[in-house]
Amino acid sequence: MAKVLYITAHPHDDTQSYSMAVAKAFIDTYKEVHPNDEIINVDLYKENIPQLDVDIFSGWGKLRSGQSFEALSAEEKTKVGRLSELSEQFISADKYVFVTPLWNFSFPPVMKAYIDAVAVAGKTFKYTEQGPVGLLTDKKALHIQARGGIYSEGPAAQMEMGHRFLNIIMQFFGVPSFEGLFVEGHNAMPDKAEEIKQNAIARAKDLAHTF
Ligand SMILES: Cc1cc2nc3c(=O)[nH]c(=O)nc-3n(C[C@H](O)[C@H](O)[C@H](O)COP(=O)(O)O)c2cc1C
Repeated sequence: MAKVLYITAHPHDDTQSYSMAVAKAFIDTYKEVHPNDEIINVDLYKENIPQLDVDIFSGWGKLRSGQSFEALSAEEKTKVGRLSELSEQFISADKYVFVTPLWNFSFPPVMKAYIDAVAVAGKTFKYTEQGPVGLLTDKKALHIQARGGIYSEGPAAQMEMGHRFLNIIMQFFGVPSFEGLFVEGHNAMPDKAEEIKQNAIARAKDLAHTF
Protein backbone atom coordinates (compact mmCIF):
# COMPACT_ATOMS: atom_id res chain seq x y z
CA MET A 1 0.00 0.00 0.00
CA ALA A 2 1.49 3.32 -1.09
CA LYS A 3 0.88 6.72 0.44
CA VAL A 4 0.24 9.35 -2.23
CA LEU A 5 0.35 13.09 -1.62
CA TYR A 6 -1.96 14.83 -4.09
CA ILE A 7 -0.58 18.38 -3.86
CA THR A 8 -2.81 20.90 -5.61
CA ALA A 9 -1.79 24.54 -6.08
CA HIS A 10 -4.92 25.97 -7.65
CA PRO A 11 -7.64 28.29 -6.32
CA HIS A 12 -10.27 26.62 -8.57
CA ASP A 13 -11.63 23.11 -8.98
CA ASP A 14 -11.87 20.87 -12.04
CA THR A 15 -14.93 22.70 -13.42
CA GLN A 16 -12.90 25.86 -14.06
CA SER A 17 -9.33 24.66 -14.39
CA TYR A 18 -7.66 22.52 -17.06
CA SER A 19 -4.92 21.31 -14.73
CA MET A 20 -7.43 20.36 -12.04
CA ALA A 21 -9.67 18.60 -14.61
CA VAL A 22 -6.76 16.53 -15.93
CA ALA A 23 -5.55 15.87 -12.39
CA LYS A 24 -9.03 14.72 -11.30
CA ALA A 25 -9.14 12.25 -14.20
CA PHE A 26 -5.72 11.01 -13.11
CA ILE A 27 -6.44 10.65 -9.39
CA ASP A 28 -9.94 9.16 -9.86
CA THR A 29 -8.49 6.48 -12.16
CA TYR A 30 -5.52 5.99 -9.84
CA LYS A 31 -7.91 5.30 -6.95
CA GLU A 32 -9.79 2.71 -9.01
CA VAL A 33 -6.56 0.97 -10.04
CA HIS A 34 -4.93 1.20 -6.58
CA PRO A 35 -7.89 0.84 -4.17
CA ASN A 36 -5.66 0.15 -1.17
CA ASP A 37 -3.40 3.16 -1.55
CA GLU A 38 -3.81 6.08 0.82
CA ILE A 39 -4.40 9.37 -1.02
CA ILE A 40 -3.93 12.60 0.94
CA ASN A 41 -4.96 15.87 -0.70
CA VAL A 42 -2.69 18.73 0.30
CA ASP A 43 -4.68 21.69 -1.04
CA LEU A 44 -2.12 24.48 -0.86
CA TYR A 45 -4.80 27.18 -1.09
CA LYS A 46 -6.55 25.80 1.99
CA GLU A 47 -3.65 24.51 4.09
CA ASN A 48 -1.62 26.77 6.33
CA ILE A 49 1.76 26.99 4.55
CA PRO A 50 3.91 29.49 6.48
CA GLN A 51 6.23 31.62 4.38
CA LEU A 52 9.80 31.78 5.65
CA ASP A 53 9.82 34.97 7.72
CA VAL A 54 11.49 36.64 10.69
CA ASP A 55 9.76 34.35 13.25
CA ILE A 56 10.86 31.21 11.45
CA PHE A 57 14.46 32.34 11.05
CA SER A 58 14.66 33.42 14.69
CA GLY A 59 13.04 30.14 15.82
CA TRP A 60 15.44 28.08 13.73
CA GLY A 61 18.33 30.17 15.08
CA LYS A 62 17.32 29.40 18.69
CA LEU A 63 17.03 25.67 17.96
CA ARG A 64 20.43 25.68 16.20
CA SER A 65 22.02 27.39 19.19
CA GLY A 66 20.83 24.54 21.42
CA GLN A 67 17.69 26.08 22.93
CA SER A 68 14.66 23.82 23.34
CA PHE A 69 11.46 24.13 21.32
CA GLU A 70 9.78 25.36 24.51
CA ALA A 71 12.11 28.38 24.53
CA LEU A 72 10.60 29.65 21.25
CA SER A 73 8.02 32.48 21.25
CA ALA A 74 4.39 31.59 20.54
CA GLU A 75 4.69 32.77 16.90
CA GLU A 76 7.96 30.91 16.39
CA LYS A 77 6.49 27.70 17.85
CA THR A 78 3.39 27.87 15.65
CA LYS A 79 5.24 28.52 12.41
CA VAL A 80 8.28 26.30 13.00
CA GLY A 81 5.98 23.53 14.26
CA ARG A 82 3.78 23.76 11.18
CA LEU A 83 6.79 23.62 8.83
CA SER A 84 7.93 20.52 10.65
CA GLU A 85 4.49 18.90 10.22
CA LEU A 86 4.58 19.60 6.48
CA SER A 87 8.07 18.20 5.99
CA GLU A 88 7.28 15.10 8.09
CA GLN A 89 4.16 14.46 6.03
CA PHE A 90 6.20 14.92 2.84
CA ILE A 91 8.89 12.42 3.73
CA SER A 92 6.32 9.89 4.98
CA ALA A 93 4.76 9.62 1.49
CA ASP A 94 5.80 7.27 -1.31
CA LYS A 95 4.49 9.21 -4.31
CA TYR A 96 3.84 12.87 -5.10
CA VAL A 97 1.37 14.29 -7.60
CA PHE A 98 1.88 18.05 -8.03
CA VAL A 99 -0.87 19.97 -9.81
CA THR A 100 -0.23 23.54 -10.99
CA PRO A 101 -1.29 26.06 -13.64
CA LEU A 102 1.44 27.96 -15.50
CA TRP A 103 1.29 31.54 -14.30
CA ASN A 104 3.81 34.01 -15.69
CA PHE A 105 6.15 31.20 -16.72
CA SER A 106 6.05 29.44 -13.34
CA PHE A 107 3.68 28.00 -10.72
CA PRO A 108 1.57 29.91 -8.14
CA PRO A 109 3.64 31.30 -5.23
CA VAL A 110 2.05 28.94 -2.71
CA MET A 111 3.89 26.07 -4.42
CA LYS A 112 7.21 27.81 -3.81
CA ALA A 113 6.21 28.31 -0.16
CA TYR A 114 5.46 24.57 0.05
CA ILE A 115 8.83 23.64 -1.48
CA ASP A 116 10.51 25.99 1.01
CA ALA A 117 8.63 24.15 3.78
CA VAL A 118 9.78 20.68 2.75
CA ALA A 119 13.35 21.46 1.65
CA VAL A 120 14.92 20.65 5.00
CA ALA A 121 18.52 19.53 5.49
CA GLY A 122 18.53 16.17 7.25
CA LYS A 123 15.02 15.30 6.00
CA THR A 124 14.78 15.71 2.22
CA PHE A 125 18.52 16.17 1.56
CA LYS A 126 21.74 16.27 3.52
CA TYR A 127 25.05 18.07 3.23
CA THR A 128 28.15 15.91 2.72
CA GLU A 129 31.79 16.66 1.95
CA GLN A 130 30.96 15.96 -1.69
CA GLY A 131 28.07 18.45 -1.63
CA PRO A 132 24.32 18.04 -1.00
CA VAL A 133 22.78 14.58 -1.45
CA GLY A 134 19.06 13.80 -1.83
CA LEU A 135 17.42 11.53 0.75
CA LEU A 136 14.14 10.68 -1.04
CA THR A 137 15.62 7.93 -3.18
CA ASP A 138 12.63 5.58 -2.96
CA LYS A 139 9.90 7.99 -4.14
CA LYS A 140 8.33 8.87 -7.44
CA ALA A 141 6.69 12.08 -8.60
CA LEU A 142 4.39 13.46 -11.26
CA HIS A 143 3.65 17.06 -12.21
CA ILE A 144 0.36 17.86 -13.95
CA GLN A 145 0.49 21.35 -15.42
CA ALA A 146 -1.82 23.40 -17.66
CA ARG A 147 -0.33 26.11 -19.78
CA GLY A 148 -2.08 28.30 -22.32
CA GLY A 149 0.76 28.28 -24.83
CA ILE A 150 3.10 25.55 -26.08
CA TYR A 151 6.20 24.92 -23.98
CA SER A 152 7.04 21.26 -24.57
CA GLU A 153 8.79 22.24 -27.82
CA GLY A 154 9.62 25.32 -29.84
CA PRO A 155 10.89 28.78 -28.91
CA ALA A 156 8.99 29.10 -25.60
CA ALA A 157 10.38 25.84 -24.16
CA GLN A 158 13.27 27.59 -22.40
CA MET A 159 10.91 30.14 -20.80
CA GLU A 160 8.98 27.56 -18.76
CA MET A 161 10.24 27.63 -15.17
CA GLY A 162 7.54 25.83 -13.17
CA HIS A 163 8.11 22.26 -14.33
CA ARG A 164 11.83 22.88 -14.68
CA PHE A 165 12.00 24.13 -11.08
CA LEU A 166 10.15 21.09 -9.74
CA ASN A 167 12.40 18.85 -11.83
CA ILE A 168 15.51 20.40 -10.26
CA ILE A 169 14.02 20.14 -6.76
CA MET A 170 13.07 16.47 -7.26
CA GLN A 171 16.63 15.77 -8.44
CA PHE A 172 17.97 17.69 -5.45
CA PHE A 173 15.80 15.54 -3.13
CA GLY A 174 17.08 12.39 -4.89
CA VAL A 175 13.66 11.39 -6.28
CA PRO A 176 14.62 8.99 -9.09
CA SER A 177 11.43 9.24 -11.18
CA PHE A 178 9.75 12.54 -12.11
CA GLU A 179 7.29 12.78 -14.97
CA GLY A 180 5.36 15.68 -16.49
CA LEU A 181 1.84 15.53 -17.87
CA PHE A 182 0.98 18.72 -19.72
CA VAL A 183 -2.22 20.15 -21.11
CA GLU A 184 -1.02 22.99 -23.29
CA GLY A 185 -1.79 25.28 -26.19
CA HIS A 186 -5.54 25.63 -25.50
CA ASN A 187 -5.34 29.43 -25.10
CA ALA A 188 -3.17 29.79 -28.19
CA MET A 189 -5.55 27.56 -30.20
CA PRO A 190 -9.03 28.10 -28.69
CA ASP A 191 -10.77 26.18 -31.49
CA LYS A 192 -8.81 23.08 -30.42
CA ALA A 193 -9.15 23.66 -26.67
CA GLU A 194 -11.66 20.89 -25.96
CA GLU A 195 -9.73 18.38 -28.05
CA ILE A 196 -6.48 19.30 -26.26
CA LYS A 197 -8.18 18.87 -22.88
CA GLN A 198 -9.75 15.51 -23.76
CA ASN A 199 -6.41 14.23 -25.10
CA ALA A 200 -4.71 15.17 -21.85
CA ILE A 201 -7.49 13.52 -19.82
CA ALA A 202 -7.02 10.30 -21.83
CA ARG A 203 -3.25 10.41 -21.21
CA ALA A 204 -3.89 11.04 -17.52
CA LYS A 205 -6.13 7.95 -17.25
CA ASP A 206 -3.47 5.83 -18.99
CA LEU A 207 -0.72 7.13 -16.76
CA ALA A 208 -2.76 6.34 -13.64
CA HIS A 209 -2.31 2.64 -14.45
CA THR A 210 1.49 2.78 -14.49
CA PHE A 211 2.33 5.51 -11.97
C1 LIG B 1 -2.07 34.90 -13.84
C2 LIG B 1 -1.93 34.09 -15.10
C3 LIG B 1 -0.71 34.02 -15.73
C4 LIG B 1 -0.55 33.23 -16.87
N1 LIG B 1 0.68 33.12 -17.46
C5 LIG B 1 0.83 32.33 -18.55
C6 LIG B 1 2.11 32.13 -19.12
O1 LIG B 1 3.13 32.63 -18.66
N2 LIG B 1 2.20 31.34 -20.22
C7 LIG B 1 1.10 30.74 -20.76
O2 LIG B 1 1.23 30.04 -21.76
N3 LIG B 1 -0.11 30.88 -20.21
C8 LIG B 1 -0.26 31.63 -19.11
N4 LIG B 1 -1.50 31.77 -18.53
C9 LIG B 1 -2.59 30.94 -19.07
C10 LIG B 1 -2.69 29.67 -18.25
O3 LIG B 1 -1.47 28.95 -18.24
C11 LIG B 1 -3.78 28.77 -18.81
O4 LIG B 1 -5.02 29.46 -18.78
C12 LIG B 1 -3.89 27.47 -18.03
O5 LIG B 1 -4.98 26.74 -18.53
C13 LIG B 1 -4.05 27.75 -16.54
O6 LIG B 1 -4.29 26.55 -15.87
P1 LIG B 1 -5.74 26.16 -15.35
O7 LIG B 1 -6.60 25.96 -16.57
O8 LIG B 1 -5.52 24.93 -14.56
O9 LIG B 1 -6.23 27.32 -14.54
C14 LIG B 1 -1.68 32.55 -17.41
C15 LIG B 1 -2.91 32.64 -16.77
C16 LIG B 1 -3.04 33.40 -15.62
C17 LIG B 1 -4.38 33.46 -14.94
